[in-house]
Amino acid sequence: MHQRSQKSSFRYIAFEGIDGSGKTTQAKLFVEFLKREGKSVFFVREPYNEKLRNILLNENFNDKAKLFMFLADRSELADLIFEKLKESIVVSDRSFFSTLAYQGYGDKMDVEFLFELNMFALEGLKPDVVFCIDIPVEIMHKRIKSRDFIESKGDDFFRRVRDGYLGLGKFCENYFIVDGSRSENMVFEEIVGIWKGLIGSQALS
Ligand code: ADP
Ligand code: TYD
Repeated sequence: MHQRSQKSSFRYIAFEGIDGSGKTTQAKLFVEFLKREGKSVFFVREPYNEKLRNILLNENFNDKAKLFMFLADRSELADLIFEKLKESIVVSDRSFFSTLAYQGYGDKMDVEFLFELNMFALEGLKPDVVFCIDIPVEIMHKRIKSRDFIESKGDDFFRRVRDGYLGLGKFCENYFIVDGSRSENMVFEEIVGIWKGLIGSQALS
């Protein structure tokens, strides 16, 4: 199988977590931070394709059909990310880790198999760094206003997804779990601290 070769540095950064964890907020703050540092940054969110996003978020399909739509969307996006990585840092709101957490732990599909499927769809493209913003399900309820999706899935689903996220570190060398129950600023300070540590360690090696 063809595999993409990535430069070994911290260029593709994904933000992950359950709904309401604050990953969109943090990803956007991080984009602004990188721009202030003079970096060229490309921001994306998954699902990427607007038509597929609408279908995925608003229509009823069985779990496997949804899985293949997430994969189709991500496979197409991977071509774009791969091109952008030549010039820019890519910051992504979600990545294949969402599939491992939601479809794997939430919908109870085999996580190792999902990883293999993703590597096939992505030709091996993986985030270099994942910031997984962790909150308990109770905080998710307080923050999320669009209740339909949350209520249709139920708390046990989101507890499985959250617990799943906590164990996904083996799929990325730089997988950081950040406590998202604190203020936006405190969460962001921790993320920037981790980032500076990574960049510093790279400069030394
Ligand atoms: P996600 O992308 O993980 O669903 P968002 O960044 O969209 O999360 O945030 C969901 C809601 O919670 C928004 O209303 C946002 O303003 C709020 N929020 C984000 N981070 C925090 C935080 N650390 N503390 C309190 N509220 C937050
Ligand atoms: P979105 O509106 O982006 O939610 P959020 O603001 O929480 O990121 O909707 C994305 C939804 O799709 C979210 O509930 C997670 C789900 N999802 C999966 O189940 N699998 C995936 O692979 C991806 C990318 C998203």
